[in-house]
Amino acid sequence: MVRELSGNEIDALHYELLVKDITAAAERLPPFPDVAWKIVSLVKSMAPVKEIEALIAYDPAIAAKILRMANSVYYGRQYGVRTVREAILLLGDKRLLQVVIAACATLYYGPGNSQDERDLWEHSVNTALLSEIIARLTQRTAVLTLYTASLLHDIGNTILNLYAKIYLHSSLRQIRGETEAITTERRALGIDHQELGAIIARNWKFPPEIVSAIENHHNPERAGKYEEIASLVYIANKMAIAFSKPKETENAKAFDPDSDPVFKKFHITRGIIQDSRQELLTGMSDVAKALGSA
Ligand SMILES: [Fe+2]
Ligand SMILES: [Fe+2]
Repeated sequence: MVRELSGNEIDALHYELLVKDITAAAERLPPFPDVAWKIVSLVKSMAPVKEIEALIAYDPAIAAKILRMANSVYYGRQYGVRTVREAILLLGDKRLLQVVIAACATLYYGPGNSQDERDLWEHSVNTALLSEIIARLTQRTAVLTLYTASLLHDIGNTILNLYAKIYLHSSLRQIRGETEAITTERRALGIDHQELGAIIARNWKFPPEIVSAIENHHNPERAGKYEEIASLVYIANKMAIAFSKPKETENAKAFDPDSDPVFKKFHITRGIIQDSRQELLTGMSDVAKALGSA
């Protein structure tokens, strides 16, 4: 005779099956384009522009995005960038690599059709640019790993959002309410977007510091030897939320850098926060717009 399952057992089984399903969906994501890392290594080894150009031209989707971005960033609009070569020279190494990573990331999420997708992408771009600004203002070397980790810190949400809609007939944004996002996600779906993001980043064979920063961007103290990069993503993420549109103000209200131990530990003063905001809104608004419409 089959024993009847208790309520707790049904709950446990429900979570087990759901998490298995969500994890499998994350694992089915196609690999992060190889071309990104090939371009990174060519640029870092100061390869001739011709070689970088050939690699980019090999991938028409990325080439088109680079051209579009180059045309909206800096002098592009003034002079009209027509070739990949011109775009490479105009963007410069750092911006070129950022554009390449952003172009690749838009294969998985980006300025899509729904408001949720658009908001997530805009938040990701702002977090990435803010991490770069903060690293510079605090005299840290703004490396590509920090930018990449920041751009992809919420990648887990792309899949969790879908499951929230299927199982809860609601978006995560609605069910989160006042409770902390991570707790709500775990309660509703059995897994949170940090864990899921780390699974995706690991499958993409990202370096361990990026995996760790994605996995711990809400609890950087758990990142061990990668605490610094996880903390910078944490700080940039909090600022991006606080600086975003008024509809996110419930989060903005919760932003209190003076009592936040991570902000204190990394000496992120109100002055730095103000300067970062100013730079994002003025100096970097063009870049943010260009990446935002990738
Ligand atoms: Fe997050
Ligand atoms: Fe975030």
